[in-house]
Amino acid sequence: MASLTTLKDLSVMEIERILDDAERLYEVRHVGSRNGHIIANLFFESSTRTKCSFEMAQKQLGIDTLHFDVATSSVNKGESLYDTAKTLESIGCDAFIIRHGETRYYDQLEGITVPIINAGDGSGDHPTQSLLDLLTIRQEYGLFRGIKVVIAGDILHSRVAHSNMEVLERLGADVYVSGPREWIDDSIPEEKIVTMDEAVHLADVLMLLRIQLERHDTGSLSDPDTYLNTYGLTVERERRMKPDAIIMHPAPVNRGVEIDTRLVECSRSRIFKQMNNGVAVRKAVLVRALHKKEAPVHVV
Ligand code: CP
Repeated sequence: MASLTTLKDLSVMEIERILDDAERLYEVRHVGSRNGHIIANLFFESSTRTKCSFEMAQKQLGIDTLHFDVATSSVNKGESLYDTAKTLESIGCDAFIIRHGETRYYDQLEGITVPIINAGDGSGDHPTQSLLDLLTIRQEYGLFRGIKVVIAGDILHSRVAHSNMEVLERLGADVYVSGPREWIDDSIPEEKIVTMDEAVHLADVLMLLRIQLERHDTGSLSDPDTYLNTYGLTVERERRMKPDAIIMHPAPVNRGVEIDTRLVECSRSRIFKQMNNGVAVRKAVLVRALHKKEAPVHVV
């Protein structure tokens, strides 16, 4: 069973293989009858990119999706995540894509025997986002070793930051962080923390993050302009970036907060390329999850 809950479970070789598979599957479009696999996408937190690109990947591979709507499900009668997944496994789902607000929610699902693909767990991990980020960086630079990556913004609450810091360091990149001190994990060494003015000189890849207000006690940002001018990417700072440096962001973007809205689609921006890469990466992860299952039997 090839679940994917965190990239920490994958070797560098396995990660490179998924990226190679994503390149190979880029243009693959299943035509004709469906391939017999049925997957349920369980999104307990909101999503546009991850949910829709998993659905797109499933359609392009000929996989059927079982519609599951948390809002109208028996989760609202108190049914647990485990019993929900066990029920869907019992009626024939071949795998689950799950996004959940609880960090390491998948620890509750040990009795589930079909693959579980983590689409984001609390502030823990977002492995398929990391894989699409890695694909984007590899397409740009061809390698990871020695590439200077600055991850900037709400590091503490960001599963993207946590996934990416771990895997990029393992792949040999030089990873730095930038942002308000209260949003930087205590475990990050002082020499790895830079200001945004230092970041724009240093970075080959400047990865901006959304402020995760839904994980903050306050729930709102008092002064977006001050945040942009202190911690964000302004037009003036963008002019000081290295000539070939790129801008990334997992999105959704808070335009005018972590990045000036004029930079979202500038020539350095790979933000929409990342989304495009997300479909290919998710196809590779789905193929990896399902390929050990027996081929479906067609009954006429
Ligand atoms: N990047 C990302 O996970 O976006 P969604 O929350 O829209 O899926």
